[in-house]
Parts: sequence; structure tokens; C-alpha cells
Amino acid sequence: MSNTMQNVFLSSGYIMPLIGFGTYRIEGRHVIYEVINESLNVGFRSIDTAAVYRNEEDIGYALTELLPKYNLQRSDIFITTKLSPSDNGNPKRIEQSVQRSLKALNTTYIDLYLIHWPGAAHIPESSTNNPDLRTKTWDKLVDLQKQGFIRSLGVSNYTVDHLEELLKNCKGVPPAVNQVECHPHYCQEGLIKYCKGKGIHVQAYSSLGTSSNTKLLKDPIVTNIASQLNVSPAQLLLKWALQQGIGIIPKAVKKEHIRDNILLNFVIDEKSMKALFSLPQYKYAWDPSNVY
Ligand SMILES: NC(=O)c1ccc[n+]([C@@H]2O[C@H](COP(=O)([O-])OP(=O)(O)OC[C@H]3O[C@@H](n4cnc5c(N)ncnc54)[C@H](OP(=O)(O)O)[C@@H]3O)[C@@H](O)[C@H]2O)c1
Repeated sequence: MSNTMQNVFLSSGYIMPLIGFGTYRIEGRHVIYEVINESLNVGFRSIDTAAVYRNEEDIGYALTELLPKYNLQRSDIFITTKLSPSDNGNPKRIEQSVQRSLKALNTTYIDLYLIHWPGAAHIPESSTNNPDLRTKTWDKLVDLQKQGFIRSLGVSNYTVDHLEELLKNCKGVPPAVNQVECHPHYCQEGLIKYCKGKGIHVQAYSSLGTSSNTKLLKDPIVTNIASQLNVSPAQLLLKWALQQGIGIIPKAVKKEHIRDNILLNFVIDEKSMKALFSLPQYKYAWDPSNVY
């Protein structure tokens, strides 16, 4: 049985499935068509993409072709996309970027639009201009939300400091979501607690340790607990997040992986959760802690 019906209520008033489908590094019209076909077939109803993934147009094409096959409407699907760091702080480019994403995805609204990264691409991470550019970005996105192009607004890779700053100056629209790297090798307990306290939903990315590293999937504690529970290491890692109320967006191209990643109807006992929380910590994706 799948967990497709598990949703989270966002502070924006909209509902988002807790389980979504990640698409970083999935490219090419045919490959995208096949993975979207399989993900819809097994029950995924939420898709995560970004301007920088360069696959929005192929996702839009696949959804347009495939929704009728599964008797689905646009409103049955939750689409997340993100602003490229190269557009941070530039209202004109932000507007163009949102319009480009809408066109590529063949939709009139984006369910969730995230600031992909707290820094701007063209300046150093340490630049003291970053906070001002973030504020300009948020202000413009709030305008675009008011115009109906975006339903929920959020951020990605924001630290507690970045969130504190945004909450002080959010034009009455707090971020609904913070999408961050989070898995048993990078638990982010402080950030999770902070977000929960502020009503910001945390969505985990790279739950399986990214496409370029199998260290997490092969961790002996992970593989031992998974075999005790008779689930795959990937399923265990995904459930570790879900059981804390954290959303997940696993990426997979292989059909057996896509199917595996939505079959999460089991419980991790307290002792095993504790063991997973005590693993050595490694970061696999980009690190925002030095973005001023
Ligand atoms: N906001 C950000 O800055 C940010 C950063 C990174 C990622 N993300 C988002 O988060 C998504 C997920 O993160 P990620 O792409 O880094 O990768 P991930 O989900 O941690 O891992 C993907 C890797 O795990 C493999 N895999 C998937 N399911 C499996 C299973 N059941 N058993 C064994 N292996 C399995 C995949 O293999 P196959 O592909 O061969 O099936 C792929 O090699 C991204 O696609 C993207 O949407 C966001």
C-alpha cells in the first residue's frame, strides 16, 4: 500500500503531498516522459524541478501528454519549481523566470515556488549585498503570488539565520516551505526544530545521499535496520524523514526505484530511529552556511 494520500497543510493555506518526485539530473524528453509515466502510475502526485535543472519543458510536455492517461487534471498534481541563483535580487529577471517556468511547465500557476539558494550567483557567498538581494527577491515573489502565478512561496537551503532575517521582513507572507538537505548523515536537528516552531514545513532533499554517492545507502547501520524491517535501505531513509513529518522528494530513474520509493507503509521503532540519529554526520550537497 502506498502513502500517496499523506498531505501537509502549508501556512499558505494550500495542501502539499508529503511525498514528491525529485528530478535533478533527469534530462531528455524521452527519459523524462518515461519516469513521469512510471511515477504517476505508482501514485506520485507531486513533482520537484528547478529552472537550473533544465527539464521543466520536458516535464510540462510529459504531464500534458500523460495526465489524461491517468484520468488526472492539472489540479491533481503539485508542481514545485525554483528561482535560479543567477536571478536573485533582480525583479525583472525574476518576473521573466517565473513566466518562463509557467510556459515550460504548460501551466497557469506554480504550486510552490522556492528561492533555490540564499546567495546570488554573480557575487561571493560572503558578500554583504546578499541580504538586500534576498529581500528584493522575496518582495517580487510576493507580488507575483498576489497576481496568481504562484500559490505557495518558500525557500531552499536557508539556514536559521537566513530564515530569521526573512521572517522579520516577509511582507506578511512567511515562507511555507524550506527545502534542505536532510537525512541520517545530515540530520539538521536545530534547523528542523526552528522551522517546526515557526510553522515552516521542512522538505528533505538528497534523502538517499545524492545521485553521485552511495555512502548513505551502504551505511552498515542503515542496511542492518532495513533488513530487520524487511525494507530496502532507500525505503528506510525515506521513512526516517516522513516519520518526523518531513517531506521527501526522492529522485529515481530506474522503475524499480520509483516503485520502491512510494511504498513506505511501515514503522521504524524508537530504538532504530535513535540509532539512525546517532550516525556520523557528512554533507553531500552544497553548503549554505557561509552565505552571508
Ligand atoms: N533545493 C536544492 O538545492 C536541491 C539539491 C539537491 C536535490 N534537490 C531535489 O531533491 C531531489 C532528490 O535529491 P538527489 O537528486 O540529490 O538524490 P537522492 O534522491 O538523494 O538520490 C538519488 C539516487 O538514489 C538512487 N535511488 C533512488 N531510489 C532508490 C532506491 N529505491 N534504491 C536504491 N537507490 C535508489 C537513484 O538511482 P536511479 O536514478 O538510477 O534510479 C539516484 O542515484 C532532486 O532530484 C531534486 O529534485 C534539491
